[in-house]
Amino acid sequence: MTESLTVRDNRTGQEYDVPITDGTIRAADLGKIKADDETPGLAVYDPGFVNTASCRSSVTYIDGDKGILEYRGYPIEQLAEHSSFLEVAYLLIHGHLPSKEEHDAWVHEITYHTFVHENVKTFMQGFRYDAHPMGMLMASTGALSTFYPESRDISDEQNRHMQMVRMIAKMPTLGAWAFRHAQGKPYVYPDNDLSYTGNFLSMLFKMSETKFEADPRLVKALDTLFILHADHEQNCSTNAVRSVGSSQVDPYSAVAAGVGALYGPLHGGANEAVLRMLKRIGSKENIPAFIEGVKAGNERLMGFGHRVYKNFDPRATIIKKACDDVFEVTGVNPLLEIAKELEKIALEDEYFVKRKLYPNVDFYSGLIYEAFQFPPEMFTVLFAIGRTPGWLAQWSELVTDKEQKIARPKQIYTGDRTLQFTPASQRWA
Ligand code: ACO
Repeated sequence: MTESLTVRDNRTGQEYDVPITDGTIRAADLGKIKADDETPGLAVYDPGFVNTASCRSSVTYIDGDKGILEYRGYPIEQLAEHSSFLEVAYLLIHGHLPSKEEHDAWVHEITYHTFVHENVKTFMQGFRYDAHPMGMLMASTGALSTFYPESRDISDEQNRHMQMVRMIAKMPTLGAWAFRHAQGKPYVYPDNDLSYTGNFLSMLFKMSETKFEADPRLVKALDTLFILHADHEQNCSTNAVRSVGSSQVDPYSAVAAGVGALYGPLHGGANEAVLRMLKRIGSKENIPAFIEGVKAGNERLMGFGHRVYKNFDPRATIIKKACDDVFEVTGVNPLLEIAKELEKIALEDEYFVKRKLYPNVDFYSGLIYEAFQFPPEMFTVLFAIGRTPGWLAQWSELVTDKEQKIARPKQIYTGDRTLQFTPASQRWA
């Protein structure tokens, strides 16, 4: 089989042979196709990059039709069940599972970088009382670049490693402080005796007790949620990290861009919409009428459907199980019954079956977060903490990839040309 594409340009009658590599053609090869010497070469118009590969990556593999998600080749189901968030972070960033020594050194490094400079605390305290925690997280992540000016030297491997450790370590501190800020409660310093996720819960919920140790089942469930969110290949926020990182800026600024992208309702905000929907449905009796409304096109069943997963979202299956573990500790969220019934009815309904609409990661995650007593504004912050190792793994891959260039897409210009400028003094006379 010849791995090439023959293109005939009907404007000129000329034929071109374009090599196919890894199921793709190089956009630059299309640039050689020209109607004449005056016009620019052929380009691809692809708003939202729905069919454009922007990089080669060995971090995460997804097969949406089969419902497969793998980090560095390991299935998400196995990682969620048997690994820990920090081990998964190591795997994503280093590309292999750690030996015992590597694991212990990694956990030690992360644990001993959880504190932030006191001035970070001072400027976080300067936010308005009702500041959205995601805005605070975005600003404080970017601000870390000013505390670590050496982070600009992205060509040094040791230096890159140090900044990645710092960022994974400090994200929970920043996220927890943003949470405490909204509540008017004092910020809690990290407790390095605790696990990564145990320490995060302590910084969130500790009051006057000398030590706060969350129920291990809750620690495990939140750790699992972090694993499920750790990477998802070239999604909107990862693309933002890569795009900003391609200017060779420091990683704090690049990750702050990722936090900004995740802040948007089309990316990190769907689980909040699921909660609102379940509350509005209110009881199981109202489900059939609600489903009819969805089928009539009045609204969407939030938490269902996915651009990539057309069979099932493997993360949703794991989260459903985590729900049971969490509710064993916190008591059942009454909305769970509605969610389960809704899922059952929808999965049997022709409308959803035909369109391959299945529960996605957000269908159950909001219920878990609510059981932890997180307000909806915190949901995306939790997502960001989980996604940080993925952003960094992708950033690290980008800056060491010789093929990468500064991100600079083309446009199709639709505006005026060569107008004559009249100075304001004459136009307004
Ligand atoms: N409820 C009802 N109908 C739906 C839903 C839904 N949740 N999702 C898709 N459909 C229907 C569409 O109306 C369309 O029907 P049609 O062919 O009769 O017009 C068909 O299914 C295909 O839908 P698209 O919008 O083309 O699918 P797309 O891949 O663009 O959208 C998306 C994916 C945005 C996730 C969509 O399924 C949706 O809006 N879901 C609800 C929001 C949600 O849960 N988002 C979280 C995604 S997971 C994440 O981001 C972490």
